Amino acid sequence: MGALYLPVKHFHLLFVVSTLVLFNLRFWLRTRQPEKTLPKVLKILPHINDSMLLFSGMLMMHIIPWQPFGAHKWLGIKLLLVVAYIVMGVICLRAQPRSTKWWGAYALAMLIVAVIVYLARWKPI
Ligand code: HEM
Repeated sequence: MGALYLPVKHFHLLFVVSTLVLFNLRFWLRTRQPEKTLPKVLKILPHINDSMLLFSGMLMMHIIPWQPFGAHKWLGIKLLLVVAYIVMGVICLRAQPRSTKWWGAYALAMLIVAVIVYLARWKPI
């Protein structure tokens, strides 16, 4: 099982990049053309990608095993922030494009992802 860890971690990173690209694509397409609905693929693909992101993270937690609410507090905080990222994404994409809520939720979502990456990469706690 240990041999699986690195490949799973690389897939996790691929899903991290994809979630950011897909979210930003939806956000900027709606910002530029608020009157148009998004292509169907941009409504389905992000959900598949985010499920794989969650699944790959859970698989790594199982293999090591990481303890998010024990020895590895960075991961516990990261998981709470992942929930906050999802909530911000939903609030943002349901808001009126170009409204204060639209820009505010987007900025918060991006800030949260930056903190998540910091916690995962440098594990300060
Ligand atoms: C927006 C969501 C997420 C982002 C941006 C993210 C980001 C990252 C990054 C950048 C790394 C690599 C750290 C390094 O280079 O050492 C990583 C590793 C990891 N992530 Fe995530 N992740 C997310 C979601 C999740 C979820 C949902 C879980 C668990 C269910 C999870 C669990 C893990 C674990 C266990 C590692 C391995 C750490 C290591 O081997 O050093 N992640 N994540």
